[in-house]
Amino acid sequence: MSAIDNFTIQVEPTQQSRISQVDFDHLVFGKIMSDHMLVANYDNGQWEDVKIVPYGNLSVSPSMSALHYGQAIFEGIKGYKFQDGTVSIFRPDKNWERFNKSAKRLEMPEVPQEIFLDGLKKLLDVDRNWIPSKEGTALYIRPFMFGTEAALGVHPSKSYQFIIITCPVGAYYSKPISLKVETHYTRAAEGGVGFSKNAGNYALSLYPTQLANNEGYDQIMWTDALEHKYIEEAGTANLIFRIGDTIITPHGDTILHGVTRRTIMELAEKWGYKAEQRKVSVKELIDGIEAGDVTEAFAAGTAATITHIDRIGFNGQDYTLPPVEGREFSNKVLAYLNELRYGKIDDPFGWNYIVK
Ligand SMILES: Cc1ncc(COP(=O)(O)O)c(C=O)c1O
Repeated sequence: MSAIDNFTIQVEPTQQSRISQVDFDHLVFGKIMSDHMLVANYDNGQWEDVKIVPYGNLSVSPSMSALHYGQAIFEGIKGYKFQDGTVSIFRPDKNWERFNKSAKRLEMPEVPQEIFLDGLKKLLDVDRNWIPSKEGTALYIRPFMFGTEAALGVHPSKSYQFIIITCPVGAYYSKPISLKVETHYTRAAEGGVGFSKNAGNYALSLYPTQLANNEGYDQIMWTDALEHKYIEEAGTANLIFRIGDTIITPHGDTILHGVTRRTIMELAEKWGYKAEQRKVSVKELIDGIEAGDVTEAFAAGTAATITHIDRIGFNGQDYTLPPVEGREFSNKVLAYLNELRYGKIDDPFGWNYIVK
């Protein structure tokens, strides 16, 4: 029998809901968390104590291992409410798989489906009222895990805590962004942790991103660690280009394999576009922009789905992309996914994970 056979998730409801404090017409990303959180503890080689409790502060030891040695991973998912009140989560099974890949790479325990996915469903059922229903809004879902052992010394933590918190988020009107091709700093190298969603990958991006901001760019376009010749991904999203008649996304273990990127590439293939996951050099991109062959360029991620790119800076020169209105593929994807995720059209792929 596995450690989690027959376990039930206890629910301790809040005595004081904070929902009346929320202005659902003016939601600010990541500030006000829903009433409840799911918490599970891992100790002595097994998961135990899975419960849904009122959202609140944690008490941790100053010698807690995650604070010193960085065993900390997370995910980002969105839940939606249809017009008829149905609650749906977009492809959380893919986030669960990615979470466990991150866990393995950081020598952390995997989280079973019964806790990650079934627990998530139960949490959204409990906090159903927190899921906004207006077009464009969503419930942002943040599962995360960290080492909790109170002991200094570099070794895998003996104990862990897995938590899911959620917050309602407003419609994301994303303006086109500018990217600076990064040719000095590195996000990830072959054999490293680029494919995992660990906290350190975000910490290391902050300083180079600030430098790019100072030069007038919104975000960085990361390149490979060895030669800075090949394009990897943007700050917190994957990159997709349309070059000639092909939809292309960089590939490899140094990038985070986004659920949105995967979804868009699957759609491209289904809709009969030529779709390729392969190395893309900075030269191919720049030459393509100059020749007029790059007709679309966008960042793909859970936050905005698609964020168009309008300018790319490389070696002190700026390259401008064609106007957003004429971008046939990315605008079609965005419109399709918006309809699918709010249950306005059929879901032929089974991407909507319905909370009964
Ligand atoms: C570094 C990075 N790349 C790509 C993505 C896009 O992944 P997803 O589409 O799963 O949100 C994200 C966002 O989670 C990210 O942080």
